[in-house]
Amino acid sequence: MNTVLVGAQWGDEGKGKVIDFLTEEADVVVRFQGGSNAGHTVVVGDKKYVLHLVPSGVLHDGKHCVIGNGVVMDPFDLMKELEQVESWGFELKGRFHISERAHMVMQWHRAIDKAEEAARPEGHKIGTTGRGIGPAYAAKVGRYGMRVGDILKPDFLDLVRAQVAEANRALAALGAQPLDPEEMVKLYTPMVKALMPYVTDTIQFLHENLDEKKSILFEGAQATMLDIDFGTYPFVTSSNPTAGGACTGSGVPPRAIDRVIGVLKLYTTRVGEGPFPTELFDEDGETLRKRGGEFGATTGRPRRCGWFDAVVARYAQRVNGVDFWAMTKLDVLDTFPVVKICTGYRRDDGFVYQTFPADLAVLKRCTPVYEELPGWQCETSHITDYSELPENTKKYVNRILDLVGGKLGVLSVGPARETTLRINI
Ligand code: IMP
Repeated sequence: MNTVLVGAQWGDEGKGKVIDFLTEEADVVVRFQGGSNAGHTVVVGDKKYVLHLVPSGVLHDGKHCVIGNGVVMDPFDLMKELEQVESWGFELKGRFHISERAHMVMQWHRAIDKAEEAARPEGHKIGTTGRGIGPAYAAKVGRYGMRVGDILKPDFLDLVRAQVAEANRALAALGAQPLDPEEMVKLYTPMVKALMPYVTDTIQFLHENLDEKKSILFEGAQATMLDIDFGTYPFVTSSNPTAGGACTGSGVPPRAIDRVIGVLKLYTTRVGEGPFPTELFDEDGETLRKRGGEFGATTGRPRRCGWFDAVVARYAQRVNGVDFWAMTKLDVLDTFPVVKICTGYRRDDGFVYQTFPADLAVLKRCTPVYEELPGWQCETSHITDYSELPENTKKYVNRILDLVGGKLGVLSVGPARETTLRINI
């Protein structure tokens, strides 16, 4: 069974926890896009693990973990994370693999990311994570990027010098400090040695696993509404976190994918700038932030919070072909006397959108249309079986399923591994 797991909103849906849960049945876990802008949190016992680049499958001994060709990997972030994973007691040797085709995020990409963001006028800032993601993908698409395989080449350090010289021209144009090419060479020399053992042809590796009928889990980072094609452009990340990205970012063909699981938080959050139709600026928003611990796992920024948006979820269902939903953070809603679902966007002239408009100017003219349901006002985090859920909770979940399509597969009622209910999968 090969599974693609994707975020269905603006990220931070709780993908790390669901991936950790699904990894028990997988042999290989693959990251296929994004970089260290991601922050996947997994809670095991009283320990909280946050992973940015290394697939969450690493927390299960013996599972293989792959950084696919679609990822942009910052070697320093990766080295730091690998050291951390080993310090937690997980062995990496022989089970961690980096695609030689993946691109690298270099120090100058980070510097350009920050300088570009600073240069954007108010209202045009994207609120990037500052991890160099956009400039690294721009270099890839512009065909002047640096691939992981380049570290195996004898002229790697000359390539570093040439790229720094080029980047310094861009930094000067942005009014930012230049980087010293020789310092960069010094910085990258030990890295080459440290990462070389993990670099391999991951396409070959994945196809051997397919031939042996092993189970592969594709771990999406970020989410549908941050997708460079399908998200709220330009307030998006620079990759394809949607299901199609699993194929282009790993070298596994579409026919090899058996199912798609979408992760859906039972309310909505967004971090960074950009439109967010159901955003709350009142006490309810504050309650969601506090009860949900809604602060970025990568940047620590407070997340913007709002009611569940069925327009977004339905759009995500279509774009990804979601078979099963993993619904998360149910318990965060436990105290609300009323819970709301956005079923459409009403434009100022009365027209109601039921699909997500491409034009952000249109969104600005819209207000959400809400359906109100009674809350359940009791604790759900101890519940271990779907049938034990309060009737009002089931009504809320079922109404969402009616509106968005797809089946319920997993329901998460708390942060710990044990608080995950398996429904139909
Ligand atoms: P970038 O990916 O750092 O270029 O940031 C682009 C946008 O995507 C910003 O609004 C970020 O806050 C958002 N973003 C990037 N990665 C994540 C993530 O893992 N979770 C939530 N938002 C993210």
